[in-house]
Amino acid sequence: MVNLAIIGTGLRANGHARAFSALKNCTIVACCDIDKPKAKAFAAEWNIPRYYNDIDELLTANQLDAAAIVTSDNSHCYLAIKCLEAGKHVLCEKPLASNEDQARKMVDAADKSGVINQIAFSYRRSGALYQAKQLVDSGELGAIRHVEGSYLQAWLSLYEAQSFDENFPFGLWRISKALSSGTLGDIGVHLLDFCTFPVGPVTSVNCILQSFEKTPGNEVGGIKLDANDSAILSVKFANGAIGTLHTTRWAYGHRNSIKLSIWGTKGALRIDLDKDYDSLEFCNTVQGGPLDWKSPFNWEAQTCRKVPDEFERFIQSIESGENLTPDFRRGAEIQGLIAGCFESAERGEWIHV
Ligand SMILES: NC(=O)c1ccc[n+]([C@@H]2O[C@H](COP(=O)([O-])OP(=O)(O)OC[C@H]3O[C@@H](n4cnc5c(N)ncnc54)[C@H](O)[C@@H]3O)[C@@H](O)[C@H]2O)c1
Repeated sequence: MVNLAIIGTGLRANGHARAFSALKNCTIVACCDIDKPKAKAFAAEWNIPRYYNDIDELLTANQLDAAAIVTSDNSHCYLAIKCLEAGKHVLCEKPLASNEDQARKMVDAADKSGVINQIAFSYRRSGALYQAKQLVDSGELGAIRHVEGSYLQAWLSLYEAQSFDENFPFGLWRISKALSSGTLGDIGVHLLDFCTFPVGPVTSVNCILQSFEKTPGNEVGGIKLDANDSAILSVKFANGAIGTLHTTRWAYGHRNSIKLSIWGTKGALRIDLDKDYDSLEFCNTVQGGPLDWKSPFNWEAQTCRKVPDEFERFIQSIESGENLTPDFRRGAEIQGLIAGCFESAERGEWIHV
């Protein structure tokens, strides 16, 4: 049985509590939030016996095996290193850190501790993504030439200027440069993992980041709402392919849409998570696709093997002792790509990553 604490008891922590409570080999024994009344209410809601507002107290007062870090991004590094140094297995929310330097420190601390360390790239729960990787690796698409990926959300377009106050449901920290890495770091981070997992690493990037005005003066209670809302990336992959990846929170009509298309010399695949996490569409010259340009292409739906979600994978890893991916090292790799995007956007040029 894994005794687990949830650190951070905001919106996303409910997803952790729900998922971990449903696993029979895990018990949530404590929770912690700098906002103690919030931690108390969360503990009551999820039937968690103990709550804290201090990480040191949490770590010393409990026989914990593991911690899930679900706090706002700028505290991940500090909290994860505390937990790792105390010998606890850690599942950390994305993005791994606020910058590349912090991410490297987290990887070092994880290596030193030797415990299980994973990052919550939630869309790794898509069986279609693993099937896509297998189709690329096996050569069934031929040499990969072109990639298109998008992650679209609508929520910035759903709020009037007066809604951007301290009660803003998604947290003002998400849209402030000082407190987060904006849409790119919040949801773009998922897209970067989603696209590079099957296609392989990006070697260079050219990125545009844009922040649009949300309130007059774009500031609420001293918090500037200046983080990027939209990101458009041109990328070159190590395997020679090129791609275009984009993400925005101004995509009216999309609650949470992720799409990926991969085209190779012999075939193509496409994933649309709005339709299904565990199937993809596939088309190649061997599967009856045409070799001439006049005949129709035969796209076929492939049902894919289901894969564990981040919570199941974390507990499985603790039980087996094998640190399954995505781990902190993978989180840091993606953080490096995000850093390259920021540098490119600032300098207005291609950046080698
Ligand atoms: N994997 C996913 O799909 C997914 C989805 C949503 C959010 N997230 C991530 O989860 C994290 C939390 O997001 P959220 O939407 O719940 O934010 P939130 O603002 O609703 O909650 C964050 C909580 O962390 C607490 N906190 C901040 N610093 C702390 C510290 N040092 N110690 C203890 N508690 C602290 C805050 O008081 C707050 O209650 C973020 O990193 C976000 O990127 C991931």
